[in-house]
This record gives sequence, structure tokens and C-alpha cells, in this order.
Amino acid sequence: MFPKMLFVVTILLSFFCVKNTSQKVPVTVYYESLCPDSRKFITTQLYPVLQTNVSKWVNLTLVPYGKSNYTQEADNEWKFFCHHGPFECHGNKIQACALHEIENSVPTPNNYAFNPVTLAFINCLMNKTSKNIDGYDFPIGECAKTANVPNYVSIENCANHTVGSTYLAALGEQTHQFQKTLISVPTIVFNNRYDKQESTDASNFFNQILCKYITQPLEECQNHGLTLKASLLLLTLTFVHFVF
Ligand SMILES: *[C@@H]1O[C@H](CO)[C@@H](O)[C@H](O)[C@H]1NC(C)=O
Ligand SMILES: *[C@@H]1O[C@H](CO)[C@@H](O)[C@H](O)[C@H]1NC(C)=O
Ligand SMILES: *[C@@H]1O[C@H](CO)[C@@H](O)[C@H](O)[C@H]1NC(C)=O
Ligand SMILES: *[C@@H]1O[C@H](CO)[C@@H](O)[C@H](O)[C@H]1NC(C)=O
Ligand SMILES: *[C@@H]1O[C@H](CO)[C@@H](O)[C@H](O)[C@H]1NC(C)=O
Repeated sequence: MFPKMLFVVTILLSFFCVKNTSQKVPVTVYYESLCPDSRKFITTQLYPVLQTNVSKWVNLTLVPYGKSNYTQEADNEWKFFCHHGPFECHGNKIQACALHEIENSVPTPNNYAFNPVTLAFINCLMNKTSKNIDGYDFPIGECAKTANVPNYVSIENCANHTVGSTYLAALGEQTHQFQKTLISVPTIVFNNRYDKQESTDASNFFNQILCKYITQPLEECQNHGLTLKASLLLLTLTFVHFVF
């Protein structure tokens, strides 16, 4: 009897341990700062969904570059051409800089695989950037306040200088390595595997697509995980019944 009991306990333990070894789902978003579809996706899908418990199960990579291209000039400066014009290049640089600078003052919390403050800042920019008579206003100061970013002048400085171009060029490389020219913007990739239909679906139903990859039982995933867990538990109980 005792060895059998031990066996069952082992099974039950391994069942509960599955939970703790669950991996965070890699999610990569390729987008651009002035693209209406990118703004809609980030402000109505990505950001709201990542305010819920699913956020701890996501390894988010933001790539604000889109359908741009660039050349490197002789004087070590870069020349960018962006899908929605030169102001978009500046907007992309601000976000490229935010991805580096915010981490220095507000590091990513231990249980996260992305910086929630950086995401809040970028969400605010995507929401609040507005047209003016000369071009566009990027409300860096206002969004720093909204997202509790302490060092926003360093973001502005970075975006105004070569360092911002260097960061943006690196995002360009990352984008070109993924696709020579992006097929659509935004592009959303789960588990580092691109699926065109899934990317399109995720731009409107981000939570549903994400939940396909989350094995954790979460209310936000409408028990997708629970169903699996429940059937595993049932299987175990049946087994216990059978053994004894
Ligand atoms: C870069 O983009 C600009 C504007 O979209 C386009 O005219 C140019 O041909 C592109 N250059 C390369 C090398 O793709
Ligand atoms: C997130 O993904 C990156 C690769 O894109 C990896 O280096 C990193 O370890 C991952 N982080 C976690 C916590 O899973
Ligand atoms: C910004 O966010 C507010 C509140 O969520 C929303 O009502 C508004 O439509 C958004 N604006 C843009 C341009 O996304
Ligand atoms: C960056 O450039 C913008 C626009 O040219 C300017 O308004 C701003 O003051 C500059 N910021 C810094 C920190 O240099
Ligand atoms: C979300 O997480 C909090 C704390 O981690 C927990 O108390 C709450 O029950 C969770 N909600 C759902 C819907 O899973």
C-alpha cells in the first residue's frame, strides 16, 4: 500500500509542479509610431490586456521601426526614411530610446519579462501624439508624468542625438532579419513563429490568441488552462481510484 501511495503523491506533485515551470510566451510586436493600426492595437489591445494577470506570462518585445529603411552616412550619422514621413522617424527614435533609458531608472520587476513602465509610456505616446501645423507633437513630458517615468529628459536627449539613431538602426536590423520589408503593420508574433493569419487575428483579438499559448489557468483566459488542468485532475483521480 505504502509504495502505491508514494507513487500517487509523486504524480500529484508533478501535476502541481507543471504550473511553476510554465514558460512566459514570447510576443514580438513590429510597429511604427504614427501608423493608425499600430496606435489602435497598442492602445485598445496590447496595453489593456497587459494590465491584467496575463502580463506575468508574457515576454514582450516591442520593435518600433515598421516599414522604414536607412542608410549609414560617412560621418557616422544615419539617414532614415519612414513609412509616415520624417516625424515618424523621430517618434520611433523616442520609443527606441525609451526602451533603453527607462530601464536605467525603473528596472523591470522580477516577475515580469518586460518593463511595464516603458509599456505605459509608449501606450501614452501612441494615444496622445497629435498633429500640429508643422508636423507632430510627441508629448514626452506629459506621458512621463502619466507613466511615472522620472528621467524623461534623457529620453529626449537620446532621441535628439546619434545614440537614438543607433538604437533605431538596431531595431531596423531586427526587423529586416525578421522580414526584408514588413508585410503588414503592426505584425504580432507569438513564440517566435510568424503566422500571417494569427498576426491579423491578434491585432483585433489579442487576448484570445495570447491565451492559446498560456498554459496557466487564468480567469482572463476563460479557463482555457483550467479545462486542461481539470481533465488532468480527472485522469489522476481515475488512476487513484483504479490503484486502490
Ligand atoms: C527607402 O524608403 C524610401 C521611402 O519609403 C524609398 O523611396 C526608397 O526606395 C527605400 N530605399 C530602399 C533601399 O529600400
Ligand atoms: C525573454 O525573451 C528573451 C529573448 O527574446 C530571452 O533572452 C529572455 O531570457 C526571456 N525572458 C524570460 C523571463 O523568459
Ligand atoms: C486615447 O485614450 C482615450 C482613453 O482610453 C481614448 O478615449 C482615445 O480615443 C484615445 N485616443 C487615441 C488617439 O487613441
Ligand atoms: C530635442 O529636440 C526637440 C525638437 O527639436 C526640442 O524641442 C527639445 O528641446 C530637444 N530636447 C533636448 C533635451 O535636447
Ligand atoms: C490576479 O492576480 C491576483 C494576485 O496575484 C489574484 O489575487 C487574483 O485572483 C488574480 N485574478 C485572476 C482573475 O486570476
